[in-house]
Amino acid sequence: MPVVTSFRRLSEEEKYERFMQRIEAGEKIEADDWMPEDYRMTLIKLIAMHAISEIMGALPEKEWVPKAPSLRRKLGIMAKVQDEMGHGQLLLRVAEDLMAPLGKTREEIMQDLFKGDLKFHNVFHMPAPTWADAGLIGWLVDGAAIITQTNMLDASYGPYARALKRICAEEVFHAQHGESIILALAEGTKEQKEMLQDALNRWWEALLMFFGPASSETTGASKQDITIKYRIRTKTNEQLRQDFFTKYVPRILALGLKLPDETMHFDEKQGKWIYKQPDWNKFKEIIRNNGPKSKERLRLRELSYYHNAWVREALSGQSAAV
Ligand SMILES: [Fe+2]
Ligand SMILES: [Fe+2]
Repeated sequence: MPVVTSFRRLSEEEKYERFMQRIEAGEKIEADDWMPEDYRMTLIKLIAMHAISEIMGALPEKEWVPKAPSLRRKLGIMAKVQDEMGHGQLLLRVAEDLMAPLGKTREEIMQDLFKGDLKFHNVFHMPAPTWADAGLIGWLVDGAAIITQTNMLDASYGPYARALKRICAEEVFHAQHGESIILALAEGTKEQKEMLQDALNRWWEALLMFFGPASSETTGASKQDITIKYRIRTKTNEQLRQDFFTKYVPRILALGLKLPDETMHFDEKQGKWIYKQPDWNKFKEIIRNNGPKSKERLRLRELSYYHNAWVREALSGQSAAV
């Protein structure tokens, strides 16, 4: 096509200009399209981290599959764990296509995780010692994930936007599954209510950290500015955290639970929630794999990755033969 031929003759600056015009016009960028290096690298980092977090995120709830209090709950949590692994696989495929021109493979994403070069979400480094924790993960961690992921449903990168559409539809079920567990505990015995409050106290700081530091707390060039510039997302970390508060603080209070932060309130004048900042140094330590469950879960993932190597080999052999 003449358009393609003429595009090839353009200088890098002209290609960049055309790319930005497409972004600003709300067009979707596809895997084979020309894209600037920082766009590709930002997407690889974001999507690989998202993929790995889905897979690592299945582990705290997986611990509760054998211990779920009823058959119905067991089926629910088992289906959720399975969905999360599926989300991870779907996203790894999106990351893989972006990495192909760089000669990097999906296998390397996993190796980066094991070497500690690829970080996963802070919440999945935390323990889930009670059934209330398992419910709270579904209700609030998946709830937080829905807020960040729906913000990217119209991402400029088409394959990511399409994968998120499928993922978000399932995340809504996850949040409902979590809410159902939480409601049962909130209406239960004194011990169950206490167990729920303890779980909320335990998860509160991790939930605040989930959205990442606000721009002023990041050092150097802010990654979130790049994601906004390239229309991968529209809201900042702090805006997303505020959306989370607006959605969930009234629900938490309606269940008769206490917020673990007594200073927290909505400031009408500023139009935002005022809350106690989490310890951001602790956050950095957690995502450097120094969280309470980091090493144990990484070991478990590595072990199952090698135990299941024969399945990947069998599948790739099969596809080569076809
Ligand atoms: Fe998920
Ligand atoms: Fe989920």
